[in-house]
Amino acid sequence: MENTVALDFLGDLQRTHTCGELRPADEGKHVLLMGWVHRRRDHGGVIFVDLRDREGITQVVFHQDVDTAVHNRAEEVRPEYVVAIEGRVAHRGPAAVNPNLATGAVEVVASKIWLLNESRTPPFPMEEQVDVSEDVRLKYRYVDLRRPHMQRNIMLRSKVSFATREFLYSQGFLEIETPFMTRSTPEGARDYLVPSRVQPGSFYALPQSPQIFKQLLMVSGFEKYFQIVRCFRDEDLRADRQPEFTQIDLEMSFPQQERIYEVIEPMVQRICEAAGVRVHYPFPRLTYAEAMRSYGSDKPDLRIPPMHPVEDLAAELANAGMPLVAIHIPGIGAPSRKERDELKAFGQERGLRVYDDVKRLERDYPYQIDQVRQRCGAREDDLLILATWAGQPQGHRPEETVYLACGQLRLYCAQKFNDRHKLLDGRNFKFLWVVDFPMFEWDEEENRWNAAHHPFTSVHDEDLDKLTSDPARCRAKSYDIVLNGVELGSGSIRIHRRDVQSRVFAALGFTDEEARRRFGFLLDALEYGAPPHGGIALGLDRLVMILAGETSIRDVIPFPKTARGTDLMCDAPAPVPERQLRELGISFRSTGK
Ligand code: AMO
Repeated sequence: MENTVALDFLGDLQRTHTCGELRPADEGKHVLLMGWVHRRRDHGGVIFVDLRDREGITQVVFHQDVDTAVHNRAEEVRPEYVVAIEGRVAHRGPAAVNPNLATGAVEVVASKIWLLNESRTPPFPMEEQVDVSEDVRLKYRYVDLRRPHMQRNIMLRSKVSFATREFLYSQGFLEIETPFMTRSTPEGARDYLVPSRVQPGSFYALPQSPQIFKQLLMVSGFEKYFQIVRCFRDEDLRADRQPEFTQIDLEMSFPQQERIYEVIEPMVQRICEAAGVRVHYPFPRLTYAEAMRSYGSDKPDLRIPPMHPVEDLAAELANAGMPLVAIHIPGIGAPSRKERDELKAFGQERGLRVYDDVKRLERDYPYQIDQVRQRCGAREDDLLILATWAGQPQGHRPEETVYLACGQLRLYCAQKFNDRHKLLDGRNFKFLWVVDFPMFEWDEEENRWNAAHHPFTSVHDEDLDKLTSDPARCRAKSYDIVLNGVELGSGSIRIHRRDVQSRVFAALGFTDEEARRRFGFLLDALEYGAPPHGGIALGLDRLVMILAGETSIRDVIPFPKTARGTDLMCDAPAPVPERQLRELGISFRSTGK
């Protein structure tokens, strides 16, 4: 590109202040600022330039009658030009004060300007909220990241990382790195593979988490490990899932579950404080079974009131032997016929029989419905609906299937009417622990039990004997930390004994050979004096997303990928030259697509 303006050399001049720094007390100072032209307004004879850097925006003013040459030079600048400006700090007149800017009481009266670089017209304006497709934002991510809103998000992310490190160091944790080029790890997603050139046909797997390595570090005696670490998972992407994401990962030797909570709760408090949010601990705790019964979810959103099983109060409305669930959302007034039909259809699609008109039910079951209202604490203008299962019981824990569907209906109602009840307030932070997860989940496709967390999770001591006889009812020593309906982190007390690990592998249907092939080195390590240990990993991206008031983790990751795993800016993934493939001993078969 040819330059359209002549550019200046700055020499070795240094900035005196950032663009967020000047205040009335600086009046009269000579300053040198550098940054981007956020906005330029030409008032005929007077030009205002809003100069922006990551710390803020300062208004600079150029008067034609004070210095015509400098004023004329300022006429040449356009949005996103990079400039340096020398001038004197002045009070703005009372009428000109901008209360929305930290520097809004002052301006810099320019005596000199250097044009350091020009800019093509940016693909979208630098305003807080831009109405532009996310694809365009991601293609020009380096410009998108300049917007004050994105700058705040990325700076918040940095503060969160710093607060985490500061806290964990103060508690005696060691920051230790683990490899990125390794073997398959046990988190249950697909691996990203890296081919080896020197061993054609062999591949490294990128870690889905540092799980095995952190356990090995405990065997090596480095109790209290942590790492802010990148993890890689090839899985279906959603608003809160990226193929590479960051965990605050930690592990301790000799802990009970309580000890993990004692570290994580103040750490989370410290992180929130860094984001300007006050939270109090201890966080409430629910067992998985309670969370399912009361919220129909293993990651309950406590901002919305719980559901209530009421089959004991109105058995005649429940499908035989199945739960009858009351869903209650306060303060929304009477839903319209159309809204009720939508709720009903949503429930029915998920297998529920929905009683959407409680007032009508009341005519036939006045006593029962009165009791239901009392149990829920529901008032006249609250939404109250009842739901039970419409068909035959399903799954190994059939009541759970019903609770899950009701939980989805509850969230659907809450989101649908949020503009009336305003319960889903992003500045209301409701943390909790969900504990005692089931040890196993039934995999319909594979027709076998899978580890609900991962296969190194301890089973409750009193459930050890049920590992093979009643796997559906075995509880794990595992815990999730949940915030506003989002799973923020997961952890467990691990298995540290070789014999117990073998029994769990057996319950999971791994042959000895398979277990050895996948995790042999961990099994060996358990035979060399592995201490009892446990830990947790928190999703840093998710935590920052919620603290920033965002609904997608892409908005708190500098260079994220689209839902199809593409980096639109550098166009990855991309084909590679044939020569590179040959070196790796890789050739492609046509898939016919
Ligand atoms: P888990 O697989 O539950 O546990 O992951 C822990 C936390 O990491 C975050 N997370 C993600 N964030 C963004 N995108 C993703 N694709 C993604 N996947 C997971 C979530 C989740 O709660 N090794 C165990 C932890 C342990 O047992 O110590 C583990 O990785 O916030």
